[in-house]
Amino acid sequence: MNYENIVTNIQGNVALVTLNRPEALNALSTPLTIELDDALGGFGQDGNIGAIVITGNEKAFAAGADIKEMANKSFVDCYMSNFITETWECVTQSRKPVIAAVAGFALGGGCELAMMCDFIIAANTAKFGQPEISLGIIPGAGGTQRLTRFIGKSKAMDMCLTGRMMDAEEAERAGLVSRIVSPESLIEESLKIAQTIADKSRPSTIMVKEAVNRAYETTLSEGIRYERRLFYSLFATEDQKEGMSAFAEKRPPRWQHR
Ligand code: CAA
Repeated sequence: MNYENIVTNIQGNVALVTLNRPEALNALSTPLTIELDDALGGFGQDGNIGAIVITGNEKAFAAGADIKEMANKSFVDCYMSNFITETWECVTQSRKPVIAAVAGFALGGGCELAMMCDFIIAANTAKFGQPEISLGIIPGAGGTQRLTRFIGKSKAMDMCLTGRMMDAEEAERAGLVSRIVSPESLIEESLKIAQTIADKSRPSTIMVKEAVNRAYETTLSEGIRYERRLFYSLFATEDQKEGMSAFAEKRPPRWQHR
């Protein structure tokens, strides 16, 4: 597929996806999300790729779903096209770790897309918000659910009911963002972090992601049981033998990803 709304690059074992509709602050139009779905599907299949970074530009990660595209949609249009579910969920379905590298606006669907990623690295210029309330709608790509899990009920209610923006420092304090970096170093730092992940044994990184996500979907005792089963299963891998031998022999491990 030829991409017109995103740009993809591969650096080492990391795929970088840059949202590329600067004229619309990277508003997440259907064509853009179809391309994102295609790109993430391809990176999922590519054995060379160990982690993915999604970013925007200095002004905006993404200012939301495309309001102009949505304006005339009817209920039936949304329902029958499986709007959002059809193409955006590629991010949550990726088995490989996905990092959101956010500078500028991450609003509405943009904030939701960042939250679909596994964690968020923010430039100190980042601004997060769920302004849908000012459009006569509510968040529709997981905002009320994921934001509440990230930052708790009080702040999530505040953000979704007032539509206000949260800066990077507040977002880090509240647990939405894992690290803040300078705008100039956002891509470099995010790629470095992604490469650190890509340098680990793949079965382990995929299982970490699966296990942490499980914490959001089940009770503590079920989650612990799930983690324990995954932990046991890693003892069937060559990489577990290699990782522990390498430690004892005081040398770096040579992962086979098997
Ligand atoms: N959809 C479509 N176009 C958008 C857009 C969006 N979400 N956000 C910005 N744009 C467009 C603007 O219309 C403008 O286009 P024109 O030059 O053709 O007029 C261009 O991007 C630049 O935007 P502004 O001139 O508005 O830039 P600004 O710096 O003055 O303001 C902003 C920046 C505060 C982010 C403002 O653009 C804004 O409020 N955008 C909308 C934010 C929003 O409401 N997002 C939620 C969308 S709904 C949603 O996402 C639903 C969901 O949960 C899935």
